Amino acid sequence: MARKNQTLGEFIIENQSSFKYTSGELSRLINSIRLAAKVVNHEVNKAGLVDIIGAAGETNVQGEDQQKLDVYANDKFIQTLTNRNIVCGIASEEEDDFIIVNSQDENHQNKYVVLMDPLDGSSNIDVNVSVGTIFSVYRRITPVGTPVQIEDFLQKGNEQVAAGYVVYGTSTMLVYTTGDGVNGFTLNPAIGTFYLSHPNMQFPEDGKIYSVNEGNYIHFPQGVKNYIKYCQEEEGDRPYTSRYIGSLVSDFHRNMIKGGIYMYPKSSKNSNGKLRLLYECNPMAFLAEQANGKASDGFMRVMDIEPTELHQRVPFFCGSKNMVEKAEEFMTFPSSEK
Ligand code: AHG
Ligand code: MN
Ligand code: MN
Repeated sequence: MARKNQTLGEFIIENQSSFKYTSGELSRLINSIRLAAKVVNHEVNKAGLVDIIGAAGETNVQGEDQQKLDVYANDKFIQTLTNRNIVCGIASEEEDDFIIVNSQDENHQNKYVVLMDPLDGSSNIDVNVSVGTIFSVYRRITPVGTPVQIEDFLQKGNEQVAAGYVVYGTSTMLVYTTGDGVNGFTLNPAIGTFYLSHPNMQFPEDGKIYSVNEGNYIHFPQGVKNYIKYCQEEEGDRPYTSRYIGSLVSDFHRNMIKGGIYMYPKSSKNSNGKLRLLYECNPMAFLAEQANGKASDGFMRVMDIEPTELHQRVPFFCGSKNMVEKAEEFMTFPSSEK
């Protein structure tokens, strides 16, 4: 039973038995994500100081050049997950191919693969706007003890056993699901502990926020253009308000709390949109559904899409159920008057 102010460590232990494949391995995996999140948080928080430190003293504390934060985050998450011998494979936005963990050890019994976007919204780093990390976890389908294969990663979203994100915002939060609702934990930076601050998070069924990069408007399909006009019309509870951070994690997080829709449609420039199915859309879709929301590519459920490539892109419409359904209506019947 989730109790507010419980620590993430306590929550993981207490809820371990409710997980259907319980063996402690998934708990250890979430624990290592918690650890990597704290390390990355520490680095993200002082991003603005990097130049000041560099100018004053040439070298940083380790005597190394400061790495770009998305490379840094990628390295930290991979190190944490591999050093602790918890997963058998990792795929990341920052890696061309998937990584086989434990390829030297024939006795390993690790069952899980992780797919991740180590730093989401990284163009926001330089301007002190919130960014995030997204992760998605599957059970491998090839035999335990052998090197992972591409098919272990190319699983439909509905096979996910866990998914979540970290938002490095005004406060840092870790929000995740293991298929039994969505819980959010806020980091107390003074003592480095995450506390359950947002138990059982839910998207309101309706919302009044739409989040889309309207700079791409002229390139959008007619259905999306018409839906945007619908959002802007003066009628009933409309016009809606427009909010777009440019960081999927942050836009999603706000919309889940306040009610809204996030859209990254296809356009005449990008035939499949921009966002990646496996480590951006599917984990967010799992969270959305677990929080009473919805995620679609405009026509079908994101978690039912059969993946064909590691870095595959798909159009993405995600958020409050009624808003996503309305956007889908416009996609199917672009010219009808609503
Ligand atoms: P990333 O930083 O991992 O490449 O992801 C950025 C993504 C997503 O977070 C954001 O919503 C979207 O790209 C913004 O794209 P536009 O600048 O094209 O709107
Ligand atoms: Mn991203
Ligand atoms: Mn990224």
